[in-house]
Amino acid sequence: MNRPAGSVALLDLEPARSDFLEQAIAGLTSSPRILPSKFFYDERGSDLFQQICELPEYYLTRTETEILRRYMPEMATSIGANAEIVGFGTGAGIKTRMLLEELENPIAYVPVDISKQRLTESAEALAREMPALEVLPVCADYLQSLDLPTPARRPDHIAVFFPGSTIGNMEPHVARDFLERVARLCGHSGGLIIGVDLQKPRELLEPAYNDRAGVTAEFNLNLLVRANRELGADFKLRRWQHRAIYNEKASRIEMHLVSEGEQSVHLGGQKFHFDDGEKIITEFSYKHTLTGFTALAASAGFLPPRIWTDAKKYFAVFHFTTM
Ligand code: AVI
Repeated sequence: MNRPAGSVALLDLEPARSDFLEQAIAGLTSSPRILPSKFFYDERGSDLFQQICELPEYYLTRTETEILRRYMPEMATSIGANAEIVGFGTGAGIKTRMLLEELENPIAYVPVDISKQRLTESAEALAREMPALEVLPVCADYLQSLDLPTPARRPDHIAVFFPGSTIGNMEPHVARDFLERVARLCGHSGGLIIGVDLQKPRELLEPAYNDRAGVTAEFNLNLLVRANRELGADFKLRRWQHRAIYNEKASRIEMHLVSEGEQSVHLGGQKFHFDDGEKIITEFSYKHTLTGFTALAASAGFLPPRIWTDAKKYFAVFHFTTM
């Protein structure tokens, strides 16, 4: 197909707005109450997340980028030539670019992301910069099983790239199901390059989710702003507090929105009552160990990985392969 340089065909599988309504009602009716973290990422939420990635307390992005920069030649060799790269939530695309520039003859790049505008912009920029690469963006929730587009040229193998430790936002059984789906998507001789945040003392973890500038608090509260705007809810923002604590037993940061005083909120034709101090869970961010994550991926069908970490072992990048 002939396309003007830099233009890309977007496969639009964006979830309907009714998804948010249904999941918000189900989550606020459950005990404990939940608003799923995947709804953080509207335009404003994605901007705020970009700002989080640059905060001094948020070591994750910096550390992962450092590992990728240092070891990318080894990673590219480990992946091999003529690969199709599927990127999950690869966002602004800097990390992907590092990977694609190092790989030998990448055949195609299929970025899958929920944020349509960012996805289109970064895909178009990449298509302009790497004209030999077929770029096939897909706007979708990559937690669902997906039929991805097939590149015009046949790759030797598929490698999924999932940086940023977003796997940490999945509960272990969800992460396992997700990894199983990825293993199936990879097929024979496929691979998964995945960034994973590691366990570390509370004194390092909690500040990363309670930054002094208050960006994470705004990111958390933006979920209520979004529910008010998109679902016609009436959350009073001044009456909700951001809280992020490390649950050591479960090895996860828990982000909550805590009700200041007793109050009621209307959403989707229903009324939800909150006691003073009652929480809505908005996100879990699991922190793994090298052996624990290797075992999780093995249970989903992956072979033993190659692993790269930083000197302090704050973060790890794994390359898993399939038979
Ligand atoms: C996207 N994800 C890996 C982030 C994390 O660290 O769990 C989301 C985030 N939540 C608060 N700050 C960043």
